[in-house]
Amino acid sequence: MVIPEILDAAHMFAARALRPGDVAVDATVGNGNDTQFLTEQVGPTGQVFGFDVQDGALRRARTRLEEGEAAAPTALFCAGHEQLLDHLPDEVHGSVSAVMFNLGYLPGSDSSCITRPSTTIEGLTSALEGLRGGGVITVVLYTGHEGGAAEANAVREWATAQPQEEVHVLSYRFLNQQNDPPQLMVLEKRASE
Ligand SMILES: C[S@@+](CC[C@H](N)C(=O)[O-])C[C@H]1O[C@@H](n2cnc3c(N)ncnc32)[C@H](O)[C@@H]1O
Repeated sequence: MVIPEILDAAHMFAARALRPGDVAVDATVGNGNDTQFLTEQVGPTGQVFGFDVQDGALRRARTRLEEGEAAAPTALFCAGHEQLLDHLPDEVHGSVSAVMFNLGYLPGSDSSCITRPSTTIEGLTSALEGLRGGGVITVVLYTGHEGGAAEANAVREWATAQPQEEVHVLSYRFLNQQNDPPQLMVLEKRASE
């Protein structure tokens, strides 16, 4: 298929904002797929920070990053993304180039451990504050599990309410796929003139 699948599109948009030496955040580390991708984008002169509330997932992600010889210095926090700004060093506040959110639950792990609307919105608000002008947030949304549709609606409402002069907001989704396909939202913080 020529049209990028949702996860590929999330990578494509994040990559457009990232250069070697940049700071990037994986807000939902899980098994570390996006973390690994971010380290490859920013390279050894960059920095990657990751968040997840499941210690087991973080342990697996750490092993995976070590085996792949992470291309960038990486710090993983066992903490919710709603605490994002508390954990990032002060000097990177306002200079993050990309933050990736992949919501819902981690397949193959505790399916009751899902992202939830209130903490997701807090995390997104913090991520937007931490971005540099021209930086992006990607959000992959799932609606097939209990609570998923309500979370997707809350994110859409929050994103739609962002002032156009400050943030570009894009919704990317397949309209004719069956069985609750994932959706992508991309936010770009506009550079102040
Ligand atoms: C869909 S999975 C992420 C998959 C991951 N991107 C990967 O590449 O494997 C969602 C993750 O969000 C985590 N999570 C749930 N609530 C969270 C929160 N408040 N802050 C950060 N992570 C959270 C879950 O533990 C789960 O690992």
